[in-house]
This record gives sequence, structure tokens and C-alpha cells, in this order.
Amino acid sequence: MITIEDKKFVPFIERNTIETRIAALGQSISQDYEGKKPLLVVVLNGAFMFAAELMKNIHIPCEITFVRVSSYAKTESTGQLTEVLGLKESIRDRHVIIVEDIVDTGLTMNKLLFQLSTQRPGSIQVATLLFKPSALKTPLSVKYVGFEIENRFVVGYGLDYDEQGRNLDAIYVLPENH
Ligand code: IMP
Repeated sequence: MITIEDKKFVPFIERNTIETRIAALGQSISQDYEGKKPLLVVVLNGAFMFAAELMKNIHIPCEITFVRVSSYAKTESTGQLTEVLGLKESIRDRHVIIVEDIVDTGLTMNKLLFQLSTQRPGSIQVATLLFKPSALKTPLSVKYVGFEIENRFVVGYGLDYDEQGRNLDAIYVLPENH
């Protein structure tokens, strides 16, 4: 068990299991993108560790870049808008794979897909380490999923609780009756 601030988390997915699964995702991507030089677009901060492990397991020419997503309310009536920050290179005609730590409601990914697709990439797919299908609030196609998990809060392997826990080399979960 580990403690972060006021919360106690218990082991959930161990390091070996995570790395074995990511190796399989890398293998699939290597086959699917042969000759296409995919561009991994990594969503910071949470996906940094997954992205590093994934890229080590892609055995075809590929490139990587990093973005941040910021949510802000322009006016009260328009609600939350999402801005993609830091994408310097053109993704026109590129084969883009968005790399995320977790898809929860899917709202962030949905907006990101929309924003990036306006730049007319050759193709665009999503790779996420974790996916909470029961939390999904919008239709979303996620091609590469590490683990489908139930709708509980997790930390570790890049994911944080209040910016802490990202350094853990395994994934921990908040017990249901915490
Ligand atoms: P969505 O827009 O609801 O899919 O939110 C996705 C973002 O919420 C992720 O990129 C994470 O930063 C954060 N998030 C969602 N669930 C968790 C969790 O269980 N642990 C840590 N962060 C989470």
C-alpha cells in the first residue's frame, strides 16, 4: 500500500504486466504502420512514461512530439474549450498516433481528435495505456488500449494524484471503500 497525501492506494497492475502489454502494443503498431513513419503525439504530463516504453517497442522508423491540452472557459456561455499547445511540426498528411495515459470520460480525447483532424493528417489513431469504458461520455474509437479498467481512480506509471505518484513504476488504485 502507498500513501499520497490524504489517500491510500493499493497495488493494481504490476510493472511486468504493464511492460509486457506495452511491448505487444508496440508490436501491433510496428506491423500496422510499416512504411508509414508514424508520428507519436504524446499528451503531457501523464503519458510520458507510457510513451517512452511504447516507443522503445516500435521497431520501424517513427517520430515523437509532445503537446499539452489546456481547458479554459472563454465565456461562461461557451463552456469549456480545449486548446492544443506546443505542436510545432506540421501533421499534414502524417500518420498520427495520439498517445494518452488514460481515457476516462473521453471528452479530452474527443476535442484533441477534432483539433488535430482540422490539420488534415493522413490518418489519426489513439493509443492509451488505460481506458475506463464505463466512464465514457462520448463515442470514441480507441485503436490501441493497454488495459480496460473499471471506473476507479488510479495513480502511477505517469498518472498522478495532485501531481504526485507519477514516478511509481506500477499502477495503484484507490480502494472502493476508501
Ligand atoms: P477525460 O477527458 O475525462 O477522458 O480525462 C482524461 C484525463 O483525466 C487524463 O488525461 C488524466 O489526466 C485525468 N484522469 C482521468 N482519470 C484518472 C485517474 O484515474 N487517475 C489519474 N488521472 C486521471
